[in-house]
Amino acid sequence: MNEDMTAYISGVGELMRVRAGGAPLAYVRTYGCQQNVADGEKIKGLLYEMGFGFTDSDSEADLIIFNTCAVREHAEDRVFGNVGALKNLKRRKPGLIIGVCGCMTEQPEVAKRLQKTFPFVNLVFGTHVLHRLPEMLYEVLSESQRVLLLGHEEKTIREDVPIRRDGKSRAWVTAMYGCDNFCSYCIVPYVRGREKSRRPDDIYSECRTLVESGYKEITLLGQNVNSYGKGLSEKINFAGLLSRLDSIDGDFRLRFMTSHPKDASKELFDAMAGSKHIPHHIHLPFQSGNDRVLREMNRRYDREKYLSLIEYARRVMPDVTFTSDVIVGFPGETYEEFQDTLSLIREVEFVNLFTFIYSPRPGTKAAGRPDPVPHEEKTEWFAELLKVQEEIAVNNCKKLVGSRQRVLVEDRDGKSGLLSGRTQGSLVVLFSGDDSLIGEFAEVEVTEAKGWSLRGQKI
Ligand code: SAH
Ligand code: SF4
Ligand code: F3S
Repeated sequence: MNEDMTAYISGVGELMRVRAGGAPLAYVRTYGCQQNVADGEKIKGLLYEMGFGFTDSDSEADLIIFNTCAVREHAEDRVFGNVGALKNLKRRKPGLIIGVCGCMTEQPEVAKRLQKTFPFVNLVFGTHVLHRLPEMLYEVLSESQRVLLLGHEEKTIREDVPIRRDGKSRAWVTAMYGCDNFCSYCIVPYVRGREKSRRPDDIYSECRTLVESGYKEITLLGQNVNSYGKGLSEKINFAGLLSRLDSIDGDFRLRFMTSHPKDASKELFDAMAGSKHIPHHIHLPFQSGNDRVLREMNRRYDREKYLSLIEYARRVMPDVTFTSDVIVGFPGETYEEFQDTLSLIREVEFVNLFTFIYSPRPGTKAAGRPDPVPHEEKTEWFAELLKVQEEIAVNNCKKLVGSRQRVLVEDRDGKSGLLSGRTQGSLVVLFSGDDSLIGEFAEVEVTEAKGWSLRGQKI
């Protein structure tokens, strides 16, 4: 941390204590992907340094920050709805500070619209200036004025921002920022900027510290981790980074997301197969099973290449499982082309799928294309896809009955009250046991398949 940052941190700390009449509370509401979750943990890290405690309640908070996502229209609408809903609270509690940050604010029209629609929002800032939060808050507090800060991305990566992690056993570690791929439907490259990799030493020491302090699962983050290393002075690729992190001593799992099929390599699967800590599970978004649609999406692989990756991974890791993302109703997609997506799903047998109906994002290439299929029809296709996937998921679960699985216990399932953990292959297992197991590995025998999840018994 530099001197400026430290001065602003103590300045905000003092002003906030006076304003809140004691230790102030913050509510950071994060939407979107793990990258945003990781940013949220940095925002909390900075707030904690400024003396904030944390709450999940709007009415208790002295500061509310919306950390937003722009990937689909629905995500943006929710934020507009939820920020709007604070109008009355702000009237009752004029001292409340409201900030909006994250990917939505990186679209200049949206940032302007946010400021205009919500005059009670004190602070709007972009993803590239997150580390300047202390300074921005200081300005809001000391000059009682609204702040809008949308700086440009910096060449170097800030390694001095403190992190306050949400979890005690699972941690997110950013491997790289941004995206260079410009898939034609996607807003991420516009709001997150160009790819930038963190230095392997910085990633290594963060991971080692996490393992030493008891974390059991580390997930490396990047929009396309397989292009890790571009632009670094040290010659290293993602497989190399994985091998290096795998050498850390301790009992932990090392996961990563997301892999782009165009850059996934045999070397990556070999590194996974030969590792001690990397579960044999890979999240490999295919988006569509049809070559014409894939070309229009600018994905730069075809169905054959995708399936050959799956085949190779299965060859070197017979127990490997796959999860994926898929888009239904890309502009111009026909029902016949959509059938290719279904056949790919049947062929690969994913253990889980994240399914999305195409949502036009202003400024992206696909948004300007003719899109003749009405939304209702896309919804029907979507339902058809879910049915196919459900059958596969249920079958996948059934195959595991009688097997022994090592699970990392995450928490208690709200519905059943049972402990809930994940297998190496990323399947959920529910079983009974006491709270001391939360955050620990447990050996479980699978006794039953229940829809998408498993029931088991601790061994
Ligand atoms: N970098 C990751 C994806 C990040 S966005 C990758 O390339 O796989 C997460 C998912 O959101 C994408 O995989 C895609 O399936 C979905 N998505 C992105 N833009 C979308 C849009 N405009 N409409 C619908 N789904 C979208
Ligand atoms: Fe979006 Fe494609 Fe980049 Fe993923 S790889 S973030 S889908 S542009
Ligand atoms: Fe959303 Fe930004 Fe992630 S747009 S999906 S939060 S990178």
